[in-house]
Amino acid sequence: MIREIKSNVYAVGSLDWDRRLFDELIPLPDGTSYNAYVIKSEKTALIDTVDPTKEHELVRNLEELHIKIDYVVSNHAEQDHSGSIPRILQLYPEAQVVTNSKCKAMLMDLLLIPEEKFLTVADGETLSLGRKTLQFILTPWVHWPETMITYLKEDNVLFSCDFLGSHLAASDLFVKDEGKVYESAKRYFAEIMMPFRARMKSYLEEIDRLKVDIIAPSHGPVYQNPQFILDAYKDWVSDDVKNEVIIPFVSMHGSTRVMVDYFTEALIGKGITVKPFNLTRTDIGELAMALVDVCTIVIASPTVLAGPHPACVYAAYLVNALRPKTKYVSVIGSYGWGGKTIDILTQMVTNLHAEFLEPVIIKGYPTMEDFKLLDKLADEILKKHREQNL
Ligand code: FEO
Repeated sequence: MIREIKSNVYAVGSLDWDRRLFDELIPLPDGTSYNAYVIKSEKTALIDTVDPTKEHELVRNLEELHIKIDYVVSNHAEQDHSGSIPRILQLYPEAQVVTNSKCKAMLMDLLLIPEEKFLTVADGETLSLGRKTLQFILTPWVHWPETMITYLKEDNVLFSCDFLGSHLAASDLFVKDEGKVYESAKRYFAEIMMPFRARMKSYLEEIDRLKVDIIAPSHGPVYQNPQFILDAYKDWVSDDVKNEVIIPFVSMHGSTRVMVDYFTEALIGKGITVKPFNLTRTDIGELAMALVDVCTIVIASPTVLAGPHPACVYAAYLVNALRPKTKYVSVIGSYGWGGKTIDILTQMVTNLHAEFLEPVIIKGYPTMEDFKLLDKLADEILKKHREQNL
């Protein structure tokens, strides 16, 4: 399907309604899209391509437009955007691949595109298509080292690739339901962009200096109200946290579950928002989303083979890799005869630079004394949150 987003600017990408997993890791409850765009002027540019599984749809769209492609702009070397470039170069042998030097090297490595096919651009450089001009802005590490965004100056359209996008297959080209897109974009940010939030602050400032009427990402609907997604990102990348505690937990025989239930109620009683995540059935995307703003994480684990439950190890690894702005971390749980649950879990989340609060690890089923320790931890969390003005 071809849809015009501005005069002579067309969306030519593909919807993937059925995809349920990305990178064999990230759940996609609402599918996704691989957006590609054509800009027609004296010269014609294709901005990014689509996942190779949808290559035939892109090819069909381009054929319907009856165009000659002069440039294929590659904003990002990951294959869901670059994977169809080799096919495009077969069909349009005159086309040059326009990208930065890092992306060029990666495309040569990943897709075996010959070096002579490339036109290399630097940060801020422009490329005239005739009546329309493209400007390239290098934005490394959103979320690979070679990422860039492309600005169509005359039309004030920003092609942001992964940055500002959402995994959401929707029949509407433009954002219609901001609430739905907000959720999808936050999930996307949490799973993919969050580790790079410090860099994104400066990129958002750079975008603020441009006049942008439309943001056209490479996943999800196109933004006619760019401020909606820019404001959301500014909030997510800020250092501000919410008065929230998340409790990723596993319970094998019920002791840890009783602790989690008691602790959850204790925190709710203090006016704190609590989100327990039973790791045996949690969508990790939901957990990642909760990490975006959370002030405190309390991992709750039973003891298995002298350490934490493997599902808690996985959660701790994920938390550490995603690097949320979390301020405090603690551990609660139980054991039968010993173990190193606390040491193992606390050593796994050092990327967070969070303060560790006194853990509560108990033997067997919780007693009244153990509940008092949980009350004490809840009091400490309340005190810490107040220090953060929450
Ligand atoms: Fe949508 Fe990083 O690829």
